[in-house]
Amino acid sequence: MGIKILGTGSYLPERVVTNDDIAKALDTSDEWIYSHTGIHSRHVAGEGESTSTMAAEAARRAMAAAKVAPSEIGLVVLATSTPDYNPFPSTACIVQGMLGCENAGAFDLQAACAGFVYALEQARGFVNFYPDRKALVIGAESLTRILDWTDRASCILFGDGTGAVVIGNDEPPGDASAHTTAPTILGADGNGSHFIMRTGGCREATGVSKGEIGAKPPPVAPHLTLQGHDVFAFAVRKLSKVVGDLCVKLGTRPDELDRVFAHQANGRIIEATARRMKLPLEKFWLNLETTANTSAASIPISLDQAVRSGELSDGMKIVMVGFGAGLTYAGTYCTWPNL
Ligand code: UT7
Repeated sequence: MGIKILGTGSYLPERVVTNDDIAKALDTSDEWIYSHTGIHSRHVAGEGESTSTMAAEAARRAMAAAKVAPSEIGLVVLATSTPDYNPFPSTACIVQGMLGCENAGAFDLQAACAGFVYALEQARGFVNFYPDRKALVIGAESLTRILDWTDRASCILFGDGTGAVVIGNDEPPGDASAHTTAPTILGADGNGSHFIMRTGGCREATGVSKGEIGAKPPPVAPHLTLQGHDVFAFAVRKLSKVVGDLCVKLGTRPDELDRVFAHQANGRIIEATARRMKLPLEKFWLNLETTANTSAASIPISLDQAVRSGELSDGMKIVMVGFGAGLTYAGTYCTWPNL
C-alpha cells in the first residue's frame, strides 16, 4: 500500500517587513542582508494572528485541496518551535479544535527546522497502521515573536508562516512499491545543541527557593540565540549528505532527482549544497527572498507553492530535506505524490 500526499496548503501573513524597514532601526542594510542570505523581506504575523490561527488556515486549504472533511482526519501533527503556549496546551490541540477534527488525536512535535519531515514520518506511520484514516501534517511558526530585535546577526533571518499537507493511503493503489521503498532519514547531533537556542526554559530557572514560595513567577522573555557560522557549516554538510544517502538507498543518482525542497535558511547554504552535489541550482526550490526562514514551515510552504504553480507533476522524483536546532536533520523521498 502506498502513502500519498492528498493535498497541500499554506498561509503567509499579510504584513511584510523589508530589509529596509529593519535598516531604519539597526546598523544593517538591504545590500548586506541580501548578499549574505538571499532575503529581501519576510511576512510577520499581525494582531490577532498566532501560530495556531495561521496553521488552521493552511490546514483548511490543504483539506480543501485534498477534498477531505475534518471528520476524516485521524491525527494532527504540528511541528513548531513557536507554539501558542510553551509548551502546553499543544498548538496541535488548539488547531484540532478550530478545524473541528473531532476524530483526531493531536500533538506538537519539536525538531526545529527539520520538524516538518519528522512530523511527516510520524504521520506516515500512523496512516500505515490505520489505512482508513487521514493525517494532517503542519509546519507552523511565528518566529518573529521570539527574536532579539537588537541582534542584527539573527533577527534579519526569520519570518512567519505555515504550510500543511494531508496524507492518506493511495486509493486506488498506484505504485505499490511507493511506500515500501521510500526512504527517510531522521538524524540528530546533540553536541551542537548550543548553536541555536530559545532561552527561557526550565534549565535556566532556579527552582523553588525559599523566596519563591508564595511569590509570583518572574516574567520570562524567551528569545532566539544563534551561532550562525557553526550552523552554516553543519547545514551544508548535512543537506548534501542526506540527499546523497537517500539516493543511495533508492538506487538513483542525485542528478535524476527532479526537485529538492530544502529548508530555506540561507540562499548561500542552498547554493553551496548544490555546488557540493554538482546539481544545477534550478533543481532547488528557492523562496526565501520573500519568506525568509520560516523554520518548520519552510518545506511545506515551498511544496504548496510548487503544487499551486503547477511545477510538480505525477511521477516526479522529489526530496524534502531540512536541518535545524537540536541539532536535527531529516530528509525524505517522494515519487510525487506517493510518499
Ligand atoms: O534554520 C536554522 C537557522 N539558520 C541559521 O542558523 C543560518 C546559518 N547561518 C547564516 O545564515 C550566516 O552565518 C549568517 C547570515 C547568520 C551570518 O552571515 P556570515 O556571512 O556568516 O556573517 P558573519 O557572522 O561572519 O559576520 C560578518 C560580519 C561581522 O562583522 P565583523 O565582526 O566582521 O566586523 C558581523 O558583525 O558581518 C556583521 N554582520 C552584519 N552586518 C550588517 C552580521 N550581521 C549583520 C547584518 N548587517 N545584519
